[in-house]
Amino acid sequence: MILIDKVNISYKPNTVILENASIKIEKGSWISIVGPSGSGKTSLLKLIGGLLLPESGTVLIDNYNLYQMTANERHTFIRDKVGFVYQQFRLLPQFSVLENVMLPLIPYEKKKKIRDNAEAIIDKIGLSNRLNHLPSELSGGEQQRVAFARALLTNPPILICDEPTGNLDAANRDNILQLLEHIHEEGHTIILATHDEIVANRGQQILEIEKKSFVERERIHG
Ligand SMILES: Nc1ncnc2c1ncn2[C@@H]1O[C@H](COP(=O)(O)OP(=O)(O)OP(=O)(O)O)[C@@H](O)[C@H]1O
Ligand SMILES: [Mg+2]
Repeated sequence: MILIDKVNISYKPNTVILENASIKIEKGSWISIVGPSGSGKTSLLKLIGGLLLPESGTVLIDNYNLYQMTANERHTFIRDKVGFVYQQFRLLPQFSVLENVMLPLIPYEKKKKIRDNAEAIIDKIGLSNRLNHLPSELSGGEQQRVAFARALLTNPPILICDEPTGNLDAANRDNILQLLEHIHEEGHTIILATHDEIVANRGQQILEIEKKSFVERERIHG
């Protein structure tokens, strides 16, 4: 479970993003974060991902107080707990699909083990026939699937996605939504910021950032 309690976030000099904001995210849930550009969606994701020290308030992940750890402890903790996917895929252009998925773990584990896991996960996202291709040889949707594979390599319980379909056409978006369904069924918690109503509506819960806090919004059924 993720517990954000009475958090204040501001950027200097005078931009307050969240004010006394609290929210509880249950394990295994799928939460959509919406709100206008600049409302603080990415900031919230960074907060949960251990990348943004709040001015005050508490962030607990499975009862661990994220911002009371040392920076090193937090880094290790987040590496185990959280995977990240971004709008711009962020694959390294000079490396193959397999290498891109393996790279984040290279400093930490045996290469053979990483390779086996990477191949298994690339198989799961349906790109085993592209293992040795470069990102530039893939479609946008395929590149984003590789980014998901990379994020899931450590099998993190929490997956944070910042506008993961923002650069994709409708067909590729639907493809990613299908992948997200699978990931959710496997028990991962998904926290996903989006401007796309269709994507937002696939979450079990929609949280809107409004007036520097969170408001739960109705999902559209059907
Ligand atoms: N490092 C920073 N330093 C100063 N201001 C920042 C910083 N990061 C974000 N901001 C400001 O904080 C506000 C919230 O930014 P954030 O990126 O969280 O918004 P967002 O909801 O993700 O927007 P978008 O939908 O455009 O991605 C914006 O006004 C932004 O300019
Ligand atoms: Mg953003």
